[in-house]
This record gives sequence, structure tokens and C-alpha cells, in this order.
Amino acid sequence: MNTYRNIRKRQRHADADEDLSFSRSRARSLVLEANLIENPLEKFELDKIIQLEQLELVLESYKGSQLPLELRQWCFQVVEKHTRQDYESAGIWSASGKKAELRSEAARYLLVRHYPLMTLIGFVHYRFTIENLENVLYIYELHVIDGYQGLGVGKKVVQILELLGRLTKMRKMMLTVFKRNKDATRFYKEKLGFSLDASSPQFFGDMECKYEILSKDLMSFSEDCTSKNSLIRSKLFRVHEYLN
Ligand SMILES: CC(C)(COP(=O)(O)OP(=O)(O)OC[C@H]1O[C@@H](n2cnc3c(N)ncnc32)[C@H](O)[C@@H]1OP(=O)(O)O)[C@@H](O)C(=O)NCCC(=O)NCCS
Repeated sequence: MNTYRNIRKRQRHADADEDLSFSRSRARSLVLEANLIENPLEKFELDKIIQLEQLELVLESYKGSQLPLELRQWCFQVVEKHTRQDYESAGIWSASGKKAELRSEAARYLLVRHYPLMTLIGFVHYRFTIENLENVLYIYELHVIDGYQGLGVGKKVVQILELLGRLTKMRKMMLTVFKRNKDATRFYKEKLGFSLDASSPQFFGDMECKYEILSKDLMSFSEDCTSKNSLIRSKLFRVHEYLN
């Protein structure tokens, strides 16, 4: 009897290992696939010109390695202006580290311009990556410059990323936010449906940590829109429904 039970137990462990390794390799291949996409806006035929209530935006998509130097420098200046103090308060500001992060091969950008002047007004740096064994769209930086905040630009950009995350079958969207950045924390939690991720340091007893990790699940809608080979059909329908 004991032997039979042991065999069943070993079998269950083997099945669990197999499931885990299957989901890990699926997560890896989905990230790989997403990273092969040259330009997600073009691939998924998303509008590059977006009308908000008070302004019209133009989006430009880049991979980190393709982002022209002057645009990368602009992004760095915005990051430095908005968040240097947050990093310094946590004792982790490094200009060279941030610059390296911005030009990483894995980095992806959406740059936002004010149409028709084409002035740069914001950007998001995001990545398709594996985090805690899951395939995720990770938001590294999101910035809207002074004078353009509060006009719906940040929200629209996150909605577009959410759509890209779902279309590339990422399990969730994630980001790290400094606790002292109360505005951004409220923006993500109260307006965009993010909540504390299970990997956030406070869940491991680190209450002093200066940042928290937020996430938003992308799976429910994703199953819908990818089932029955309906990706393209639902995409055309949902993209407009979602963004308008
Ligand atoms: C945080 C940030 C990206 C938000 O972008 P934004 O374009 O200013 O925000 P939006 O205009 O799209 O706001 C969307 C919604 O969030 C709300 N919101 C924006 N800022 C908020 C704040 N500080 N507190 C509470 N709600 C806020 C808006 O009222 C709006 O609500 P509504 O949809 O009910 O009208 C932008 O303010 C910014 O770049 N801040 C400095 C850099 C930064 O902190 N980045 C985040 C680092 S992770």
C-alpha cells in the first residue's frame, strides 16, 4: 500500500514538474516571440495618431538599440528630472546605470509627440520579459512632461501597453514605483487597476523598502481574445472599443 502511495506521490510530483517546465518554456517562447516584433504598433495595426479631449498625440515605437541618441538623451533628462530624488532617497541613483538601462537591447519605447507640432511630451520604456517565471510586460519608465500632465496622456499610453501585453499574450503588466511618489502610485492603483504584486518586498517582511511592485493581470481578457483563432477579429473590434 505504502509503495503504491509512494509511486502515486512521485507521479504527482513528476506531473507537477512537467507542468511547471511546460509553462516556463511557454513563457520563454512568448517573450521571445514578442521580442521579435519590430514595431508592435505596425504589427497590430494600432493607430499612431490618437485624439484626446484636449490634444492630439502621435506615437513612435522604437527598440532600445534603435532609439536615436538625441532621443535617448532626452529620455534620460526627463527621467533624471522626475525621479533622481526618488532614487537618491533610496541610495540607488546611478546616471551611468540608468543610461545603460535606457539603451539596452531589451528596451522598447513608445515616444509621445504633440500633434501637429511634433514636440516630444512623454515616453514609456517597457520590456517583454520573464519575471518570477512568468511572461510579463514590464513598465520601466513612464513620463509625461510638465505642462502635459493631467491631460490623459499617461492613461492612454498605459492602455495601449495593456493592449500590447494582451495581444502578445503576456500574463501581466508590472512596474516598480517609489513609495514616496504618491502621485504615480495613486495614478496606477486608483485609475489604472494596478495592485500590489505578490513579489513586492513588503510581502517578504521588508517594510522599510523604498519601493513597491505593482501589477495588473492580463490573462482573463487575453484568453477571450485569443480563443477560437479570433485574435485578429477581436483585435480590430477591441482596439477601437478599448482606445476610444
Ligand atoms: C504619473 C504620470 C505618468 C501620469 O500621467 P498623466 O498624463 O499626468 O496622467 P493622466 O492625465 O493620464 O491621468 C489619468 C487619470 O489619473 C488621474 N491622475 C493623474 N495624476 C494623478 C495623481 N497624481 N493623483 C491621482 N490621480 C491622478 C487623472 O485625474 C486621471 O483620472 P481620470 O481618468 O478619472 O480623469 C505623470 O504625471 C508623470 O509623468 N509624472 C512624473 C513622472 C512619474 O512619476 N512617472 C511614474 C514613475 S513610475
